[in-house]
Amino acid sequence: MTSGRQFDNLLVTGGCGFIGSNLIHYLLKKSGFQGKIINLDKLTYAGNPLNLKGLEKEFPGRYFFVRADICDLEALDKIFTQYEVDAVCHLAAESHVDRSIKKPAEFIFTNIVGTFSLLEISRSRSPFSLFHHVSTDEVYGSLGPEGLFRETTPYHPNSPYSASKASSDHLVRAYHETYGLPVTVSNCSNNYGPYQFPEKLIPLMILNGAEGKPLPVYGDGKNVRDWLYVEDHCNAIWTIMRKGRTGETYNIGGNSEVENLAVVNAICSILDQAITPSRSCRELITFVKDRPGHDWRYAIDFSKLNKELGWSPAESFTTGLEKTVKWYLANSEWTKSVKSGEYLKWIEEHYGK
Ligand code: NAD
Ligand code: TYD
Repeated sequence: MTSGRQFDNLLVTGGCGFIGSNLIHYLLKKSGFQGKIINLDKLTYAGNPLNLKGLEKEFPGRYFFVRADICDLEALDKIFTQYEVDAVCHLAAESHVDRSIKKPAEFIFTNIVGTFSLLEISRSRSPFSLFHHVSTDEVYGSLGPEGLFRETTPYHPNSPYSASKASSDHLVRAYHETYGLPVTVSNCSNNYGPYQFPEKLIPLMILNGAEGKPLPVYGDGKNVRDWLYVEDHCNAIWTIMRKGRTGETYNIGGNSEVENLAVVNAICSILDQAITPSRSCRELITFVKDRPGHDWRYAIDFSKLNKELGWSPAESFTTGLEKTVKWYLANSEWTKSVKSGEYLKWIEEHYGK
Protein backbone atom coordinates (compact mmCIF):
# COMPACT_ATOMS: atom_id res chain seq x y z
CA MET A 1 0.00 0.00 0.00
CA THR A 2 1.25 3.52 -0.79
CA SER A 3 1.06 6.23 1.84
CA GLY A 4 -1.38 8.09 -0.45
CA ARG A 5 -2.14 11.82 -0.74
CA GLN A 6 0.13 14.28 1.04
CA PHE A 7 -1.03 17.56 2.54
CA ASP A 8 1.12 20.47 3.72
CA ASN A 9 -1.35 22.78 5.42
CA LEU A 10 -4.50 21.04 6.56
CA LEU A 11 -7.43 23.14 7.76
CA VAL A 12 -9.56 21.25 10.30
CA THR A 13 -12.89 22.97 10.95
CA GLY A 14 -14.62 22.35 14.29
CA GLY A 15 -11.35 21.14 15.78
CA CYS A 16 -12.35 22.15 19.33
CA GLY A 17 -15.42 19.88 19.27
CA PHE A 18 -15.59 16.24 20.26
CA ILE A 19 -14.49 14.47 17.07
CA GLY A 20 -12.35 17.38 15.85
CA SER A 21 -10.21 17.47 18.99
CA ASN A 22 -9.75 13.69 18.96
CA LEU A 23 -8.80 13.96 15.28
CA ILE A 24 -6.17 16.64 15.94
CA HIS A 25 -4.60 14.58 18.76
CA TYR A 26 -4.64 11.57 16.45
CA LEU A 27 -3.11 13.42 13.47
CA LEU A 28 -0.32 14.98 15.50
CA LYS A 29 0.55 11.97 17.63
CA LYS A 30 -0.46 8.77 15.85
CA SER A 31 -0.98 9.21 12.10
CA GLY A 32 2.50 10.00 10.80
CA PHE A 33 1.18 13.27 9.29
CA GLN A 34 4.09 15.73 9.05
CA GLY A 35 2.35 18.90 7.85
CA LYS A 36 0.69 21.80 9.65
CA ILE A 37 -2.77 21.75 11.18
CA ILE A 38 -4.85 24.91 11.29
CA ASN A 39 -7.80 24.44 13.61
CA LEU A 40 -10.63 26.81 12.70
CA ASP A 41 -13.43 26.95 15.26
CA LYS A 42 -16.09 29.47 16.28
CA LEU A 43 -16.08 28.22 19.89
CA THR A 44 -19.80 27.69 20.35
CA TYR A 45 -20.91 25.96 23.58
CA ALA A 46 -19.60 22.72 21.96
CA GLY A 47 -16.12 24.01 21.20
CA ASN A 48 -13.67 23.71 24.06
CA PRO A 49 -10.01 24.73 23.52
CA LEU A 50 -9.14 22.92 26.76
CA ASN A 51 -9.54 19.70 24.74
CA LEU A 52 -6.32 20.70 22.97
CA LYS A 53 -4.46 22.35 25.83
CA GLY A 54 -0.69 22.45 25.37
CA LEU A 55 -0.61 21.38 21.71
CA GLU A 56 0.71 24.75 20.46
CA LYS A 57 3.75 24.32 22.76
CA GLU A 58 4.13 20.60 22.16
CA PHE A 59 4.03 21.01 18.35
CA PRO A 60 5.52 24.46 17.69
CA GLY A 61 5.05 25.58 14.09
CA ARG A 62 2.78 22.62 13.38
CA TYR A 63 -0.45 23.37 15.26
CA PHE A 64 -2.35 26.68 15.03
CA PHE A 65 -5.73 27.74 16.37
CA VAL A 66 -7.88 30.42 14.73
CA ARG A 67 -11.24 31.50 16.05
CA ALA A 68 -13.62 32.14 13.14
CA ASP A 69 -17.10 31.36 11.84
CA ILE A 70 -17.27 29.14 8.76
CA CYS A 71 -20.09 31.36 7.45
CA ASP A 72 -17.70 34.34 7.28
CA LEU A 73 -16.32 34.29 3.71
CA GLU A 74 -13.96 37.20 4.29
CA ALA A 75 -12.37 35.57 7.35
CA LEU A 76 -12.06 32.26 5.49
CA ASP A 77 -10.35 33.94 2.56
CA LYS A 78 -7.76 35.52 4.88
CA ILE A 79 -7.10 32.26 6.74
CA PHE A 80 -6.69 30.23 3.54
CA THR A 81 -4.23 32.80 2.22
CA GLN A 82 -2.27 33.29 5.43
CA TYR A 83 -1.76 29.56 6.03
CA GLU A 84 -1.62 28.49 2.35
CA VAL A 85 -4.32 25.91 3.03
CA ASP A 86 -4.16 23.03 0.55
CA ALA A 87 -6.64 20.62 2.16
CA VAL A 88 -9.72 20.78 4.37
CA CYS A 89 -11.19 18.30 6.80
CA HIS A 90 -14.62 19.76 7.53
CA LEU A 91 -16.20 18.84 10.86
CA ALA A 92 -17.62 22.15 12.12
CA ALA A 93 -21.34 21.78 12.65
CA GLU A 94 -24.22 22.11 15.01
CA SER A 95 -24.47 18.47 15.95
CA HIS A 96 -27.19 17.72 18.49
CA VAL A 97 -30.59 16.46 17.30
CA ASP A 98 -32.50 17.67 20.40
CA ARG A 99 -31.15 21.22 19.96
CA SER A 100 -32.08 21.13 16.26
CA ILE A 101 -35.68 20.31 17.22
CA LYS A 102 -35.88 23.21 19.69
CA LYS A 103 -33.91 25.81 17.68
CA PRO A 104 -33.14 24.84 14.07
CA ALA A 105 -31.86 28.19 12.72
CA GLU A 106 -28.18 27.76 13.69
CA PHE A 107 -28.21 24.32 12.01
CA ILE A 108 -29.21 25.91 8.72
CA PHE A 109 -26.58 28.66 8.96
CA THR A 110 -23.60 26.61 10.11
CA ASN A 111 -24.27 23.26 8.48
CA ILE A 112 -25.54 24.52 5.11
CA VAL A 113 -24.33 28.10 4.62
CA GLY A 114 -21.05 27.37 6.42
CA THR A 115 -20.33 24.35 4.22
CA PHE A 116 -21.20 26.40 1.13
CA SER A 117 -18.75 29.15 2.23
CA LEU A 118 -15.92 26.66 2.75
CA LEU A 119 -16.59 25.07 -0.63
CA GLU A 120 -16.56 28.48 -2.33
CA ILE A 121 -13.18 29.40 -0.87
CA SER A 122 -11.75 25.93 -1.51
CA ARG A 123 -12.64 25.98 -5.20
CA SER A 124 -10.82 29.31 -5.61
CA ARG A 125 -7.50 27.86 -4.37
CA SER A 126 -4.65 26.38 -6.33
CA PRO A 127 -2.95 24.10 -5.55
CA PHE A 128 -5.75 22.38 -3.62
CA SER A 129 -5.61 18.65 -2.83
CA LEU A 130 -8.78 17.64 -1.03
CA PHE A 131 -11.98 18.73 0.71
CA HIS A 132 -13.04 15.95 3.08
CA HIS A 133 -16.58 16.33 4.43
CA VAL A 134 -17.43 14.58 7.69
CA SER A 135 -21.08 13.62 7.79
CA THR A 136 -23.51 11.33 9.53
CA ASP A 137 -25.50 8.16 8.85
CA GLU A 138 -28.60 10.09 10.02
CA VAL A 139 -29.00 11.47 6.47
CA TYR A 140 -30.37 8.03 5.49
CA GLY A 141 -33.29 8.22 7.95
CA SER A 142 -34.42 5.31 10.05
CA LEU A 143 -34.18 1.53 9.56
CA GLY A 144 -36.71 -1.13 10.57
CA PRO A 145 -35.54 -4.35 12.24
CA GLU A 146 -33.69 -5.52 9.11
CA GLY A 147 -31.12 -4.02 6.75
CA LEU A 148 -28.12 -1.71 6.82
CA PHE A 149 -27.33 1.76 5.46
CA ARG A 150 -25.20 1.54 2.31
CA GLU A 151 -23.65 4.34 0.25
CA THR A 152 -26.48 3.73 -2.23
CA THR A 153 -29.29 4.06 0.35
CA PRO A 154 -31.58 6.99 -0.62
CA TYR A 155 -31.41 10.04 1.63
CA HIS A 156 -34.41 10.40 3.96
CA PRO A 157 -33.44 12.78 6.80
CA ASN A 158 -35.99 13.15 9.60
CA SER A 159 -34.66 15.89 11.93
CA PRO A 160 -33.57 19.45 11.20
CA TYR A 161 -30.03 18.28 12.10
CA SER A 162 -29.99 15.40 9.62
CA ALA A 163 -31.74 17.47 6.94
CA SER A 164 -29.08 20.19 7.26
CA LYS A 165 -26.29 17.59 7.05
CA ALA A 166 -27.97 15.97 4.02
CA SER A 167 -28.08 19.36 2.35
CA SER A 168 -24.37 19.91 3.02
CA ASP A 169 -23.52 16.45 1.62
CA HIS A 170 -25.36 17.34 -1.61
CA LEU A 171 -23.49 20.64 -1.90
CA VAL A 172 -20.13 18.88 -1.51
CA ARG A 173 -21.03 16.33 -4.20
CA ALA A 174 -22.29 19.09 -6.49
CA TYR A 175 -19.03 21.04 -6.16
CA HIS A 176 -17.18 17.94 -7.29
CA GLU A 177 -19.48 17.34 -10.28
CA THR A 178 -19.79 21.00 -11.30
CA TYR A 179 -16.41 22.52 -10.53
CA GLY A 180 -14.21 19.44 -10.31
CA LEU A 181 -13.33 20.16 -6.66
CA PRO A 182 -11.51 17.10 -5.28
CA VAL A 183 -13.80 15.89 -2.49
CA THR A 184 -14.41 12.83 -0.36
CA VAL A 185 -17.39 12.33 1.96
CA SER A 186 -17.81 10.05 4.95
CA ASN A 187 -21.10 9.16 6.65
CA CYS A 188 -20.49 7.75 10.10
CA SER A 189 -22.57 6.18 12.85
CA ASN A 190 -22.77 7.41 16.49
CA ASN A 191 -19.39 8.11 18.10
CA TYR A 192 -18.39 7.94 21.76
CA GLY A 193 -15.15 8.52 23.66
CA PRO A 194 -13.14 11.27 25.41
CA TYR A 195 -14.09 14.98 25.17
CA GLN A 196 -17.73 14.46 24.14
CA PHE A 197 -20.04 17.20 25.39
CA PRO A 198 -22.37 15.71 28.02
CA GLU A 199 -25.60 16.39 26.13
CA LYS A 200 -25.14 13.21 24.06
CA LEU A 201 -26.31 9.87 25.44
CA ILE A 202 -23.08 8.22 26.59
CA PRO A 203 -21.26 11.10 28.40
CA LEU A 204 -24.57 12.33 29.87
CA MET A 205 -25.28 8.92 31.38
CA ILE A 206 -21.71 8.52 32.69
CA LEU A 207 -21.68 11.91 34.42
CA ASN A 208 -25.22 11.66 35.78
CA GLY A 209 -24.62 8.09 36.96
CA ALA A 210 -21.39 9.05 38.73
CA GLU A 211 -23.26 11.82 40.56
CA GLY A 212 -26.34 9.76 41.43
CA LYS A 213 -28.59 11.87 39.17
CA PRO A 214 -31.50 10.47 37.07
CA LEU A 215 -30.62 8.72 33.80
CA PRO A 216 -33.29 9.91 31.31
CA VAL A 217 -34.09 7.23 28.70
CA TYR A 218 -36.33 8.42 25.85
CA GLY A 219 -39.46 6.35 25.09
CA ASP A 220 -39.02 2.63 25.78
CA GLY A 221 -35.22 2.67 25.32
CA LYS A 222 -35.42 0.22 22.43
CA ASN A 223 -33.99 2.54 19.74
CA VAL A 224 -30.79 1.16 18.25
CA ARG A 225 -27.57 2.97 17.37
CA ASP A 226 -24.39 1.51 15.80
CA TRP A 227 -21.64 2.74 18.16
CA LEU A 228 -18.10 3.58 17.06
CA TYR A 229 -15.17 4.54 19.30
CA VAL A 230 -14.04 8.01 18.25
CA GLU A 231 -10.40 7.10 17.55
CA ASP A 232 -11.59 4.47 15.08
CA HIS A 233 -13.55 7.23 13.33
CA CYS A 234 -10.42 9.43 13.22
CA ASN A 235 -8.43 6.59 11.71
CA ALA A 236 -11.16 6.02 9.10
CA ILE A 237 -11.24 9.73 8.16
CA TRP A 238 -7.47 9.78 7.75
CA THR A 239 -7.54 6.58 5.67
CA ILE A 240 -10.16 8.07 3.33
CA MET A 241 -8.31 11.39 3.10
CA ARG A 242 -5.12 9.69 2.02
CA LYS A 243 -6.42 6.87 -0.12
CA GLY A 244 -10.11 7.34 -0.87
CA ARG A 245 -11.23 7.96 -4.44
CA THR A 246 -12.28 11.55 -5.10
CA GLY A 247 -15.99 12.12 -5.62
CA GLU A 248 -16.77 9.04 -3.50
CA THR A 249 -18.72 8.55 -0.29
CA TYR A 250 -17.61 6.02 2.33
CA ASN A 251 -19.83 4.76 5.16
CA ILE A 252 -18.13 4.25 8.53
CA GLY A 253 -19.63 2.11 11.30
CA GLY A 254 -18.74 0.21 14.41
CA ASN A 255 -20.41 -3.14 13.78
CA SER A 256 -21.88 -2.52 17.25
CA GLU A 257 -25.64 -2.23 17.23
CA VAL A 258 -26.92 -1.71 20.76
CA GLU A 259 -30.33 -0.68 22.15
CA ASN A 260 -30.22 2.53 24.19
CA LEU A 261 -31.35 0.81 27.37
CA ALA A 262 -28.57 -1.78 26.98
CA VAL A 263 -26.06 1.08 26.54
CA VAL A 264 -27.24 2.66 29.80
CA ASN A 265 -27.17 -0.68 31.62
CA ALA A 266 -23.61 -1.33 30.38
CA ILE A 267 -22.50 2.10 31.65
CA CYS A 268 -24.16 1.35 35.02
CA SER A 269 -22.28 -1.96 35.34
CA ILE A 270 -18.92 -0.25 34.76
CA LEU A 271 -19.79 2.59 37.15
CA ASP A 272 -21.01 0.19 39.85
CA GLN A 273 -17.65 -1.58 39.73
CA ALA A 274 -15.55 1.56 39.49
CA ILE A 275 -17.15 3.68 42.21
CA THR A 276 -19.14 1.15 44.28
CA PRO A 277 -22.10 3.49 44.97
CA SER A 278 -24.47 2.72 47.87
CA ARG A 279 -27.12 1.60 45.35
CA SER A 280 -26.77 0.44 41.75
CA CYS A 281 -26.78 3.12 39.07
CA ARG A 282 -29.53 1.16 37.33
CA GLU A 283 -31.97 2.42 39.96
CA LEU A 284 -31.46 5.89 38.50
CA ILE A 285 -32.88 4.93 35.09
CA THR A 286 -35.95 7.07 34.38
CA PHE A 287 -38.10 6.63 31.27
CA VAL A 288 -39.04 10.06 29.89
CA LYS A 289 -41.14 11.42 27.01
CA ASP A 290 -39.83 10.34 23.61
CA ARG A 291 -38.01 12.66 21.20
CA PRO A 292 -40.33 13.81 18.35
CA GLY A 293 -39.51 12.03 15.06
CA HIS A 294 -37.09 9.75 16.95
CA ASP A 295 -35.29 7.52 14.40
CA TRP A 296 -35.70 3.93 15.46
CA ARG A 297 -32.59 2.16 14.23
CA TYR A 298 -29.27 3.02 12.56
CA ALA A 299 -26.82 0.39 11.32
CA ILE A 300 -24.00 0.74 8.83
CA ASP A 301 -22.56 -1.44 6.12
CA PHE A 302 -18.92 -0.31 5.90
CA SER A 303 -17.81 -3.04 3.49
CA LYS A 304 -16.84 -0.49 0.79
CA LEU A 305 -14.35 1.17 3.15
CA ASN A 306 -13.15 -2.22 4.34
CA LYS A 307 -12.68 -3.76 0.87
CA GLU A 308 -11.26 -0.70 -0.91
CA LEU A 309 -9.11 0.78 1.83
CA GLY A 310 -8.72 -2.03 4.36
CA TRP A 311 -10.29 -0.15 7.30
CA SER A 312 -12.10 -1.82 10.19
CA PRO A 313 -12.65 -0.66 13.79
CA ALA A 314 -10.08 -1.65 16.40
CA GLU A 315 -12.36 -1.31 19.44
CA SER A 316 -15.41 -3.40 20.28
CA PHE A 317 -18.26 -1.67 22.12
CA THR A 318 -17.21 -3.44 25.34
CA THR A 319 -13.56 -2.33 25.22
CA GLY A 320 -14.38 1.17 23.94
CA LEU A 321 -17.05 1.80 26.57
CA GLU A 322 -14.81 0.65 29.42
CA LYS A 323 -12.06 3.04 28.23
CA THR A 324 -14.58 5.85 27.86
CA VAL A 325 -16.14 5.54 31.32
CA LYS A 326 -12.65 5.39 32.86
CA TRP A 327 -11.59 8.49 30.92
CA TYR A 328 -14.50 10.56 32.30
CA LEU A 329 -13.84 9.35 35.84
CA ALA A 330 -10.11 10.08 35.56
CA ASN A 331 -10.53 13.55 34.02
CA SER A 332 -12.54 15.26 36.71
CA GLU A 333 -10.96 18.65 36.01
CA TRP A 334 -12.33 18.57 32.44
CA THR A 335 -15.75 17.25 33.45
CA LYS A 336 -16.12 19.80 36.29
CA SER A 337 -15.21 22.68 34.02
CA VAL A 338 -17.64 21.53 31.33
CA LYS A 339 -20.54 20.81 33.71
CA SER A 340 -20.17 24.06 35.63
CA GLY A 341 -19.69 26.15 32.47
CA GLU A 342 -16.29 27.37 33.79
CA TYR A 343 -14.78 26.61 30.37
CA LEU A 344 -17.00 29.33 28.88
CA LYS A 345 -15.48 31.89 31.30
CA TRP A 346 -12.01 30.64 30.35
CA ILE A 347 -12.83 31.13 26.65
CA GLU A 348 -14.10 34.65 27.29
CA GLU A 349 -10.94 35.56 29.22
CA HIS A 350 -8.64 34.18 26.51
CA TYR A 351 -10.54 34.88 23.29
CA GLY A 352 -13.21 37.45 24.17
CA LYS A 353 -16.95 36.94 23.79
P1 NAD B 1 -19.42 18.92 18.27
O1 NAD B 1 -20.76 19.58 18.43
O2 NAD B 1 -18.79 18.28 19.43
O3 NAD B 1 -18.38 19.99 17.69
C1 NAD B 1 -18.71 20.90 16.68
C2 NAD B 1 -17.61 21.94 16.62
O4 NAD B 1 -17.93 22.86 15.56
C3 NAD B 1 -17.47 22.79 17.89
O5 NAD B 1 -16.11 22.92 18.23
C4 NAD B 1 -18.07 24.13 17.50
O6 NAD B 1 -17.50 25.23 18.21
C5 NAD B 1 -17.73 24.19 16.03
N1 NAD B 1 -18.63 25.09 15.28
C6 NAD B 1 -19.98 25.14 15.34
N2 NAD B 1 -20.46 26.10 14.54
C7 NAD B 1 -19.37 26.66 13.92
C8 NAD B 1 -19.20 27.70 12.97
N3 NAD B 1 -20.27 28.36 12.47
N4 NAD B 1 -17.96 28.02 12.56
C9 NAD B 1 -16.87 27.36 13.06
N5 NAD B 1 -16.97 26.38 13.99
C10 NAD B 1 -18.21 26.03 14.41
O7 NAD B 1 -19.62 17.90 17.07
P2 NAD B 1 -18.96 16.47 16.87
O8 NAD B 1 -19.77 15.45 17.56
O9 NAD B 1 -17.51 16.57 17.13
O10 NAD B 1 -19.22 16.27 15.30
C11 NAD B 1 -18.27 16.74 14.35
C12 NAD B 1 -18.79 16.43 12.96
O11 NAD B 1 -18.99 15.04 12.82
C13 NAD B 1 -20.13 17.09 12.64
O12 NAD B 1 -20.10 17.54 11.31
C14 NAD B 1 -21.14 15.97 12.80
O13 NAD B 1 -22.25 16.15 11.96
C15 NAD B 1 -20.31 14.76 12.38
N6 NAD B 1 -20.69 13.47 12.99
C16 NAD B 1 -20.80 13.36 14.35
C17 NAD B 1 -21.12 12.12 14.89
C18 NAD B 1 -21.22 11.93 16.40
O14 NAD B 1 -21.62 10.86 16.84
N7 NAD B 1 -20.86 12.91 17.20
C19 NAD B 1 -21.33 11.01 14.06
C20 NAD B 1 -21.19 11.18 12.66
C21 NAD B 1 -20.86 12.41 12.14
P1 TYD C 1 -27.73 11.16 20.95
O1 TYD C 1 -26.50 10.90 21.75
O2 TYD C 1 -28.42 12.47 21.13
O3 TYD C 1 -27.35 10.92 19.42
P2 TYD C 1 -28.32 10.82 18.11
O4 TYD C 1 -29.63 11.41 18.42
O5 TYD C 1 -27.56 11.65 17.12
O6 TYD C 1 -28.38 9.37 17.75
O7 TYD C 1 -28.78 10.03 21.27
C1 TYD C 1 -28.47 8.65 21.08
C2 TYD C 1 -29.72 7.85 21.39
O8 TYD C 1 -30.01 7.99 22.79
C3 TYD C 1 -30.96 8.37 20.66
O9 TYD C 1 -31.78 7.23 20.33
C4 TYD C 1 -31.66 9.21 21.69
C5 TYD C 1 -31.31 8.55 23.01
N1 TYD C 1 -31.19 9.45 24.19
C6 TYD C 1 -31.86 9.13 25.38
O10 TYD C 1 -32.58 8.12 25.47
N2 TYD C 1 -31.70 9.96 26.44
C7 TYD C 1 -30.94 11.09 26.40
O11 TYD C 1 -30.85 11.84 27.42
C8 TYD C 1 -30.24 11.40 25.18
C9 TYD C 1 -29.39 12.64 25.07
C10 TYD C 1 -30.40 10.53 24.10
